Amino acid sequence: MNQFFATCPRGLEAVLAQELVALGATHAKATDGGASFTGSMALCYRVNLESRVASRVLWQIDSAPYRIEEDVYQRARSLPWEDWFTPHDTIAVKVTAQRCQLKSLEFITLRIKDAACDHFRDLTGIRPSVDTKLPDVRIHAYFDAQQFTLYLDTSGETLFKRGYRQFTGEAPLRENLAAGILKLSGWEPGMPLLDPMCGSGTFVLEAALMALHIPPGINRPFGFERLKNFERSVWEQMRAEAADQVLPATPLPIYGSDIDKWAVIDANKNLENAGLSKVATVVEQDILDITAPATSGVLVMNPPYGERIGEADELAELYPKLGSVLKQRFAGWKVGILTADTRLPKLMRLKPSRKIPLFNGPIECRLYLFEMVAGSNRG
Ligand SMILES: C[S@@+](CC[C@H](N)C(=O)[O-])C[C@H]1O[C@@H](n2cnc3c(N)ncnc32)[C@H](O)[C@@H]1O
Repeated sequence: MNQFFATCPRGLEAVLAQELVALGATHAKATDGGASFTGSMALCYRVNLESRVASRVLWQIDSAPYRIEEDVYQRARSLPWEDWFTPHDTIAVKVTAQRCQLKSLEFITLRIKDAACDHFRDLTGIRPSVDTKLPDVRIHAYFDAQQFTLYLDTSGETLFKRGYRQFTGEAPLRENLAAGILKLSGWEPGMPLLDPMCGSGTFVLEAALMALHIPPGINRPFGFERLKNFERSVWEQMRAEAADQVLPATPLPIYGSDIDKWAVIDANKNLENAGLSKVATVVEQDILDITAPATSGVLVMNPPYGERIGEADELAELYPKLGSVLKQRFAGWKVGILTADTRLPKLMRLKPSRKIPLFNGPIECRLYLFEMVAGSNRG
C-alpha cells in the first residue's frame, strides 16, 4: 500500500475526496488544498488518468520530524533515491509549507536538492542535474511546524493541462476547477448544460469530456512514466481499457454562448482540437437574449471579474437584467455562478440555495447556486 496526496483548487477538496473513492482509493481524506489516500501504484495511474478535479498526484516517499535544516538534509540524503530514478534524470524540487519553523524555504529547497544529488554522487559518482522547467522527476516537500514529508510527483505537468485547450481569451478557468464546479452545480452527463458567458469554452469542453467518458489524461504523458517502478504493461492496458469506454461523438444538449465573437471562435477551435465539434454548440449571443434550450438543465457561468475600468458599473447594470432573464426564462433550471463579486445575488434579486467558497488561482470567489422555481427566488 502506498500513501498519496492529490492536490486540487482550494474549495474542491471534498469533491476530490469523493472522486478518489469512486476511482477506488482507500482512506480518502480531504484536507486543505487536497486529499490524502492510500492504494496501489495502479490506482495512482488511474487517478492521474481519470481524475477531473485533481491538480497533481504526489506519492509519499518519506515523512519525519525536523528542527533545523541539517535534520532535513541528513534524512533526505539517507533515502534510497536510486530505487526511484537514476542520476541521469533531471530533477526539480518544490517546497510548500504551513507554519514551517525554518527561516528560508528557498534555502531548504536547495538543501533537499543537494541531499538527493550528494546521495547519487556518493553512490555512483554522478550528480543529477536540475531542470526547473521540464524535469524528468519532480520532488515535492511539505513542511508543517514539526514534520516534513517528501513526495515524488507522479503527474508531471499539472493535470488541468488536458492538452486540448490552446486558445484562451479573457481569464479562462482552469479545467479542473470547471469540472469541480460542474459537479457542485448538480450537472451530470445526460442533462442539458448552458454556459452563456463561455469564453474559451472550458465548462462546455469539460462537460462534453465527461458525457463521452473521455478520461481527461488520455492523450498526455505523466511523471510516473519516468520512475523506475513504472509498469508499462499495467498502464498501457489501463489506458486501452479506458479508451474502449469512450462513447462516439454525437450531438448532445451542451451549449455555450458569448457576446465576444473572438471568444466564440476560440471555443469552437478548442472543441475542434478535442474532436468535440459535433458534440457541443457554441454561438455568439448577448446573455440578455438567451432562452432555455430545454425545460430543465444546468446553467453555469463565470462572469467577468469587473477589473477593467468601468466594468464593475457595467456589471451592476447587467445583473438585475440577468436576474429577470433567469426568472422569466429558466424556471426548472439549476444555476451556478462563480464570481468574486459579492454584490451579485442582491443585484440579481435572487436568493442562493448555497454559497460555496472556491479559489480561482489566488482569487477568492463564491459559487452561488440557485434553484430557479417560477416566482419563488426573490431575495
Ligand atoms: C471570465 S470570462 C469567462 C471565461 C470562461 N469561463 C473560460 O473558461 O474561458 C467572461 C466572459 O463573459 C463574456 N461576456 C461579458 N459580457 C457578456 C454578455 N453581456 N453576454 C454574453 N457574454 C458576455 C466575455 O466576453 C467573457 O468571455
